Amino acid sequence: MIPELSQSSVRMKEPERVEQVLSSMRSAGAGTLQVISDFDMTLTRFSYNGKRCPTSHNIMDNSKLISEECKAELKNLLDTYYPIEIDSRRSVEEKLPLMVEWWTKAHELLVQQKISKDSLAVIVRESEAMLRDGYQQFFDHLHQMSVPLLIFSAGVGDVLEEVIRQAGVFHPNVKVFSNYMDFDESGVLQAFKGELIHIYNKREGALLNAEHFKELQSRCNVLLLGDSLGDLNMSDGVMDLENILKIGYLNDKVDERRESYLNSYDIVLEKDETMDVPNAILLYITGQ
Ligand code: C5P
Ligand code: MG
Repeated sequence: MIPELSQSSVRMKEPERVEQVLSSMRSAGAGTLQVISDFDMTLTRFSYNGKRCPTSHNIMDNSKLISEECKAELKNLLDTYYPIEIDSRRSVEEKLPLMVEWWTKAHELLVQQKISKDSLAVIVRESEAMLRDGYQQFFDHLHQMSVPLLIFSAGVGDVLEEVIRQAGVFHPNVKVFSNYMDFDESGVLQAFKGELIHIYNKREGALLNAEHFKELQSRCNVLLLGDSLGDLNMSDGVMDLENILKIGYLNDKVDERRESYLNSYDIVLEKDETMDVPNAILLYITGQ
């Protein structure tokens, strides 16, 4: 049906169900489709030439605008909390307060650095951020087919928007929900706006944005892309959902986490740095 689904990086617990959902979505057509995606490590690469790629937070953390002392503290936070984030032996309940602690501490540190709004474009340009191979086709195809793409990110909205702007793919069909920076009158970072979005409250974010999903009511078919189990809740605000296909990138601790990913995502992509599978699925659904 879709040759890319036979690649060795692809795993499915119930391939027949995937086939059924894909057929229903194809029959319903592009006019009924919306794509809901996470950003960091889903639309961006996890690694390149054996080296970890930065998240939208890391783009700031590693930039020349941050003092050496602050960099060390942010690195320390990453080394402490990232292993907890991906620890399959801990429950969500156990991880949740620790994740809030990570985000809160990191945001406090960033705010102390007097970062100017004007410097963001340069920080992103000089960073090692990389969208996954095939991103251009992904964004351009959705734009051409007028399919809305909602990016739900626990990263930094201003930074991720700049990444997709500089890549030339921030088309009008793209809408981002994320943590946005609040700048004072002189354009210096003074806080982060609104409720914190972290990896385990994407459901609340989705429900808070239910008004937005209402506009998409006729779009009852959802293609969801994520890399964390928290990303599975991104579609919770969608009303009158008919079909959903969940694609999960399993980037790290693959053997340990395989089972839980296979139980929650319809299609699991193991150590796959490309958008090849989502692109092939989109071509199929949109009848091309
Ligand atoms: O866009 P997404 O929701 O994936 O963004 C969240 C990611 O950002 C998490 O997976 C986490 O590893 C990372 N993160 C980070 N630095 C922080 C907080 C989160 O790199 N201070
Ligand atoms: Mg992610």
